[in-house]
Amino acid sequence: MKFFIDTANLAEIREAQDLGVLDGVTTNPSLMAKEGITGKDNVMRHYKQICDIVEGDVSAEVIGTTFDEMIREGEELAELDEKIVVKVPMIKDGVKAIKYFSEKGIRTNCTLIFSAGQALLAAKAGATYVSPFVGRLDDISTDGVALIEQIVTIYRNYGYTTEVLAASIRHPMHIIQCAEVGADVMTGPLSAITALLNHPLTDIGLAKFLADHKKASAK
Ligand code: E4P
Repeated sequence: MKFFIDTANLAEIREAQDLGVLDGVTTNPSLMAKEGITGKDNVMRHYKQICDIVEGDVSAEVIGTTFDEMIREGEELAELDEKIVVKVPMIKDGVKAIKYFSEKGIRTNCTLIFSAGQALLAAKAGATYVSPFVGRLDDISTDGVALIEQIVTIYRNYGYTTEVLAASIRHPMHIIQCAEVGADVMTGPLSAITALLNHPLTDIGLAKFLADHKKASAK
């Protein structure tokens, strides 16, 4: 399973990269706004800075919602760095844009996926990744992980190569559950990834090992 971090914060991206298990970064317009990144030049510079930190894929989302706008923005983003994956919303012109990009060899991440039908359309259009939002479905009492499982099954049935990127991950159990049902990738906050480290028996066990070692060394 690939681990992506869902943030535009450079310090957090560096920290995740330093951990040694980071496979990529996803951003969205809200995350860019949270960092105060506005204006085309600043946005492009920021994406380039992210690409310089990470080794894997960096999803950069288009703002336009018409086919022409998405193509123009997506082509500029893709030219910025070979790590860029153009993130396109699941709307009619978005599907057309994904088809266009896939024929041009530009990689895409189809975002705002909330149903298996949407995921099927994105795969047919040639998306590199689909991003079903697990946490946002859970927020409205709908089983987000069940959607991941449904999409994984459909893609396996037909051999689609589109990768299932479980997005809107909120906590470590989401990561485990998405791994169990076969998600190819997960994206979430660094806190969800580092929470995987924790187990009280690990802490108790380590404290005992070190105490025993200290006792024996003192003899
Ligand atoms: C997907 O790529 C989105 O950036 C993201 O995962 C949304 O997560 P949220 O629901 O926590 O905002």
